[in-house]
Amino acid sequence: MIRQPSSSIVSSQQMLLQRHIPERYSYSQAASISLAVTCGIFGLLAPKPIGIALNPTFDPTVKFTGQPALCIGGSTSVGQYVIQLLREFQFSPIIAYASAKHGPYLKELGATHIIDRQSVSFANLPSTVSNILSETTSSPLKLVFDAFSGYDAQKAGYTCLADGGDIVTTYMIELKPEELVDSKNLLQVIGTVHWPHTREFGKQMWRALGRWVEDGVIVPNKVEDLPNGLYGIADGLERLKNGAVSCVKLIAHPQDGL
Ligand SMILES: NC(=O)c1ccc[n+]([C@@H]2O[C@H](COP(=O)([O-])OP(=O)(O)OC[C@H]3O[C@@H](n4cnc5c(N)ncnc54)[C@H](OP(=O)(O)O)[C@@H]3O)[C@@H](O)[C@H]2O)c1
Repeated sequence: MIRQPSSSIVSSQQMLLQRHIPERYSYSQAASISLAVTCGIFGLLAPKPIGIALNPTFDPTVKFTGQPALCIGGSTSVGQYVIQLLREFQFSPIIAYASAKHGPYLKELGATHIIDRQSVSFANLPSTVSNILSETTSSPLKLVFDAFSGYDAQKAGYTCLADGGDIVTTYMIELKPEELVDSKNLLQVIGTVHWPHTREFGKQMWRALGRWVEDGVIVPNKVEDLPNGLYGIADGLERLKNGAVSCVKLIAHPQDGL
């Protein structure tokens, strides 16, 4: 993120690409967008093998009306953006696995059903998802986005997924080769525009993203500003490690400590 006297600009990590920040958003809100939304957009839309190629050209006519989707870790920063992308592409139902207390907010973002992660374990997630699907759709679940990651989340998501479907995970694949079947595609997304083979898609993404943020298709995460510039980051990381950050993006302002 950079500051200019007359305009607000947010940029990707190396300032390769820049977009204006709408006046209604703060720098902190804008700073919540780039990494997490890139992860979601790359995983869902980018051409294979970068993503699962739902819409590599950002064609506005491409929709998936009436097709169900599941987002594990719906209240993570990444998950909140994924839910908004699923809404934009008209998936339905959009099932989010998250703490129930975030249900109303995640429904504002586009989720149609919340499965409370405090009362439904990963082991019981597939049967709970199956119950929701049987009440809401005749289409099989062919899209799972795991925005939490780890073995249990991947195992649950993979079990929920129908044959012919795709599951995107945000961290290392932990399922063992013998647990994988050819009929289900498991992809680890790495959301970076800074590789030669991801740069062109990244440019397209930033053009589309600028419009989506301007038009309110994508709204930033809830944010919490950390105190004391760079010094505040250690405390923020400690809170993340202890699972004490819930549905909010921690933002550090390096210049505050100077
Ligand atoms: N590949 C990439 O390009 C890329 C980019 C960014 C992030 N990531 C990865 O994506 C993942 C999410 O990152 P983030 O920054 O978005 O996370 P985050 O916002 O820091 O995640 C915090 C959230 O985790 C949720 N959570 C904790 N335990 C959970 C569980 N058992 N099941 C479901 N949700 C649970 C909490 O949900 P509740 O509040 O609802 O309890 C909390 O809101 C991480 O693994 C990160 O490393 C990857």
